[in-house]
Amino acid sequence: MSRAERKIDHIHYALSTGQSRGTGLNEIQFVHRSLPGSSVNQISLSTEIGGLQWSSPIFVNAMTGGGGEATENINRQLAELAAVCDIPMAVGSQMSAIRHPEERSTFSAARKANPNGLLFANIGSEATVGEALAVCDMIEADALQIHLNVIQELAMPEGDRDFQGAVERIDAICSRVPVPVIVKETGFGIGREAAELLNDLPVAAIDTGGFGGTNFAAIENERAEKPMAFFNGWGIRTAASIVETAAGAPGKRVVASGGLQHAEDVVKSIALGASAAGMSGFLLNILLMDGLEALIEFVEQIKKDIRMMMCALGAKTIGDLHQVPLIIHGETHHWLRARGCE
Ligand code: FNR
Repeated sequence: MSRAERKIDHIHYALSTGQSRGTGLNEIQFVHRSLPGSSVNQISLSTEIGGLQWSSPIFVNAMTGGGGEATENINRQLAELAAVCDIPMAVGSQMSAIRHPEERSTFSAARKANPNGLLFANIGSEATVGEALAVCDMIEADALQIHLNVIQELAMPEGDRDFQGAVERIDAICSRVPVPVIVKETGFGIGREAAELLNDLPVAAIDTGGFGGTNFAAIENERAEKPMAFFNGWGIRTAASIVETAAGAPGKRVVASGGLQHAEDVVKSIALGASAAGMSGFLLNILLMDGLEALIEFVEQIKKDIRMMMCALGAKTIGDLHQVPLIIHGETHHWLRARGCE
């Protein structure tokens, strides 16, 4: 199988076997307000991460690039979506383009399609400072995402087995790249201990990448000869991960992601403490099944629905949404109590 075919294979697995629905956000309930004192027309969706102003809190989180024409087309279309809907976008890991310069166009296509939008570079925590600078340069990045993917690596027969030194490398990268750094998980959730370590570094934001959406353990296990089934249910669900991250890193912006599908997921994530919300697998699925027009319509509808819910909650700004009362039920309640993050 060629590298390009493997990339596409991966995407198909991600959208079939690799999807679950168990973020814990269904256990979050808002408290209705009969006198919210708000007006739909006076609601601002704008937010700020690392000094960058976003016109709305939702963004396209890292997915693809590398391989060949198919991933280039996906990145171009996602960038068109980002341009039309005025939302930020992160490209997928650019490590392959460092090793194979002919793959650069699969990433820079996103910048070409959206010359003025917010575009984030992406690299793993194994990267050197030089590699981090190169990936930012490749797409004229406005921010850099550094992804953490220990479980996916362990689940891959050819994956990394040594995760020492990541904190020091992230620290070094933060002090050298000219853009804000967002450290992100990839579907297993940032917990309080990891958040505490990151709180001491000059990172701009921490993206929870929680459990409950795309599941890379399940994806790799589907492809593996000797699957590590014990990793299939491994991870901190998105709802709990947002609260843990906010508790562990009070000095940082929290970005929610992992299994977000609808406006309600976004609004609940923000109410739990996030300042922005990233979506990956669900958006890619709509793009590949229904096309770009349908995806644009979907994202525009999410923005409208967020406004409706904010109005009902009496929240005029994303900051107000952090203050609304909510009830946490079930497993998420028990988890947060056990972890001292109530
Ligand atoms: C991803 N994700 C990802 N993340 C990252 O930092 N670098 C990457 O290259 C990729 N690649 C990738 C490919 C595909 C096909 C998918 C669906 C996802 C992970 C992604 O950014 C996110 O953290 C998780 O997918 C969880 O979010 P969703 O998909 O549940 O919304």
